[in-house]
Amino acid sequence: MNLKIAVLSGDGIGPEVILQAKKALYAIGVIYDHEFVFEDALIGAVAIDKTGSALPEQTLNLCLNTDAVLFGAIGDPKYDNNPDAKVRPEQGLLRLRKELGLFANIRPIKPYAALLDASPLKKEIIEGADFTIFRELTGGSYFGEKKLNESGTVASDLCEYSEEEITRIAHLAFQSAQNRRKKVTMVDKANVLETSRLWRRVVKTVSESYPEVALDFLFVDNAAMQIILNPRQFDVILTENLFGDILSDEASVITGSIGLLASASLGTTNALFEPIHGSYPQAKGKNIANPVACILSAAMLLEHFGLHEEAKKIYDGVEIAIGYGVVTTDLNPDSKYGTNEIGEFISNFILSKDDLMYF
Ligand code: IPM
Ligand code: MN
Repeated sequence: MNLKIAVLSGDGIGPEVILQAKKALYAIGVIYDHEFVFEDALIGAVAIDKTGSALPEQTLNLCLNTDAVLFGAIGDPKYDNNPDAKVRPEQGLLRLRKELGLFANIRPIKPYAALLDASPLKKEIIEGADFTIFRELTGGSYFGEKKLNESGTVASDLCEYSEEEITRIAHLAFQSAQNRRKKVTMVDKANVLETSRLWRRVVKTVSESYPEVALDFLFVDNAAMQIILNPRQFDVILTENLFGDILSDEASVITGSIGLLASASLGTTNALFEPIHGSYPQAKGKNIANPVACILSAAMLLEHFGLHEEAKKIYDGVEIAIGYGVVTTDLNPDSKYGTNEIGEFISNFILSKDDLMYF
């Protein structure tokens, strides 16, 4: 297969973790005879510094005309600490999601056997947890009208959803549940929010097309508690943009580190793959960032194009690395391995014809 991949490394640890994901893809290309052509482009704070825009037109055009986008991380403290900044790095990613029509963000959560003790949660609680969050990605308060009054004392972010926006992601969530344990949990705040009541109505209607899939509802406050109290109860969680953002960071605690969680952002024609973590500026350039989330995002990219065996090779590589303790210090403070070593281990594993040859 021949794939053209736009590579948007972004800010902070983005470039370091992207490099490891590229190594894994390169290795897959060699072993399975695929040609992956990478094209780099600017986004985020680095793009603002160079062009004044968080998403230069050149980057957008490239992304619109590639098979897939591999994304690193975005954000810089110099903007976080300045509420008056007119241009923000995050705007680049948000606009990209919108322009590419990436309405569904899929975030799988499953602890590794070797890391059951790496989570601050009890092993008995997290063992066997395996669920996927379907987060709506181009609507809600992230994209609704924003207002600030003239004196800067009153602000609002409109949370708006249409039937159509809910329907299209609901179908994806139900289709996924149908191939899993056949349960969708809709997370909302329908006791308070009108948008949540619309979500419930629409999701109930969509569910009629999937009679084998059970549907239940949880208020988001309760869901936040249930995710760490009894994560095994979940199969597919379906939720709106902001709730999905918050709950997925929380859910990462189950796996032991947010540095392990990958995601796919899908639309009808475009696809982007990104770790769920941020730019972790404190770790930039120190060879300590966990590249696994980004490497797994590359595996999700392969899956998206039907390259399941290739994706599995990456999943196996990650699992073996973790099994052998080849992890970054977020998972084991005494570890001597860094970003680069993890990436090397995984790409060497892929390149070794005999799986055990590496050891
Ligand atoms: C994420 C991030 C982004 C979001 C930020 C960087 C805009 O937190 O992908 O989860 O809020 O969606
Ligand atoms: Mn987030």
